[in-house]
Amino acid sequence: MKKLIAGNWKMNGSWAEARILTEKILEGIAADKGVADTCEFVIFPPFVHLGVVKESLTDPDSPLTYGAQDCGLHENGAYTGEVSAEMIRDFACEYVIVGHSERREYHHETNEIVKQKAAIADSNGLKVIICVGEKESEREAGQHKEVVGAQLVESMPENASVENTVIAYEPVWAIGTGKTASVDDVREMHGFIRQQLGERFEEPERVRILYGGSMKPDNARDLLATDNVDGGLIGGASLDAEAFLAIAKSA
Ligand code: PGA
Repeated sequence: MKKLIAGNWKMNGSWAEARILTEKILEGIAADKGVADTCEFVIFPPFVHLGVVKESLTDPDSPLTYGAQDCGLHENGAYTGEVSAEMIRDFACEYVIVGHSERREYHHETNEIVKQKAAIADSNGLKVIICVGEKESEREAGQHKEVVGAQLVESMPENASVENTVIAYEPVWAIGTGKTASVDDVREMHGFIRQQLGERFEEPERVRILYGGSMKPDNARDLLATDNVDGGLIGGASLDAEAFLAIAKSA
């Protein structure tokens, strides 16, 4: 299975910058054939920048695709400010992220909400990256497996399958802080997540498990070489085409 290198742009940049960043990533991938043999790429621009990204990504065989950072909780209707999974799919997005810790924290999204969003996204034919991860205090209290185990069970909808599900393990204390989980911690947590997926799916090895949290060119090689790490969900470093590509090359 190829590694999935996912860039979460969060709430950054202008549409002009989104276009330039997309084109630089495309050029970088084209300039290094090897990288497309080992990696698939997906970028997550803010909603209003999806259009310019889509304009640059016209080749259906491109190893680079795009998705949305979140989706609405409901099918359609009077939900001001929301964007539905159906609209996201209609815009030809392949992926959507749900349950990012920033949504869980700042928008009070519970596992139940994440599960409903994932269910709607799944039923609209999107591939869903479900984010899980413990807070620093939970790790210090030795509760990391318990927390992540519960998030997995409670956030994964009935219609989740090995084809449409990706899990991103993102320890909250490592996101945007420059602190990365150690390779041993990542090996332990990804092994645990794989084992939990085994309770749910017959072929748990077909579900990609991404690591996220301060992944950078200088730590990506070790992280991506760790057992059960099938790619990365990259925030800060994905805003720099060179750094994003360097992470992929280290895979
Ligand atoms: P970071 O973000 O790489 O900036 O830590 C990762 C994420 O939030 O997905």
